[in-house]
Amino acid sequence: MQVIILPSTHDVALYAADRVVDVINTKTNPVLGLATGSTPIALYEELVARYQAKQVSFRQVISFNLDEYIGITDSHEQSYRTFMNQHLFDHIDIAKSNTHVPLAESKDAIVLKKSAQDYEASIQQAGGIDLQILGIGLNGHIGFNEPTSSFASRTRIKTLSESTVAANKRFFKAGEYQPQLALTMGIGSILDSRAVLLMATGKAKAEAVKAMIEGPLSAMCPASALQLHEATTIVLDEDAASLL
Ligand code: GLP
Repeated sequence: MQVIILPSTHDVALYAADRVVDVINTKTNPVLGLATGSTPIALYEELVARYQAKQVSFRQVISFNLDEYIGITDSHEQSYRTFMNQHLFDHIDIAKSNTHVPLAESKDAIVLKKSAQDYEASIQQAGGIDLQILGIGLNGHIGFNEPTSSFASRTRIKTLSESTVAANKRFFKAGEYQPQLALTMGIGSILDSRAVLLMATGKAKAEAVKAMIEGPLSAMCPASALQLHEATTIVLDEDAASLL
């Protein structure tokens, strides 16, 4: 596990963008694992800027997102598909058919289970993920792998923890239905990626970052599983690194 501490959130985004562009420019059919949340927004802005400056093309890129809320439509304002379209896909030359976000509109468990299996199969078919981008939840979750998730887990249905539902409440209108379940790549699926880059910024993440890097391997801190992956980079701003 390589830990890189940079002075500002902007530096974290620039570092992550360099890594993404490097994968795109060195692989024939680059496969990116992408994340949602506020942390990677600056990375996506930087990638859009580099695309507009003609420094990178996404024409050959295939992408897989980590997770999606269950029970809201793809086109819902708060779906992760909408997030990715708005922050990245609508602004670059990636083929929409090459972008994958778990399909989780159904509320039927059998349909969702099949969707999860198909998602794993599509990742395999694409040749596996070259670089998986991650953020980290306040409770140490990665994707929507909440505490107690198995390190061997694959794409599946997860119940969101109370703290995650509370943290994401700000995105939903008062009285609006807020999903309590998600379809998420598992920790085992994430560990299969050839390289992992986790970004964390801000003081609020310092506890989770400390548990991930210095704590024991524990299902109570899902991100600690990354200690098992030899090509993991954790890139932090000084606030997120303040308890190390
Ligand atoms: C969500 C996502 C995670 C993300 C986390 C932190 O729950 N499923 O992939 O890492 O939130 O988000 P933020 O970057 O907004 O703190």
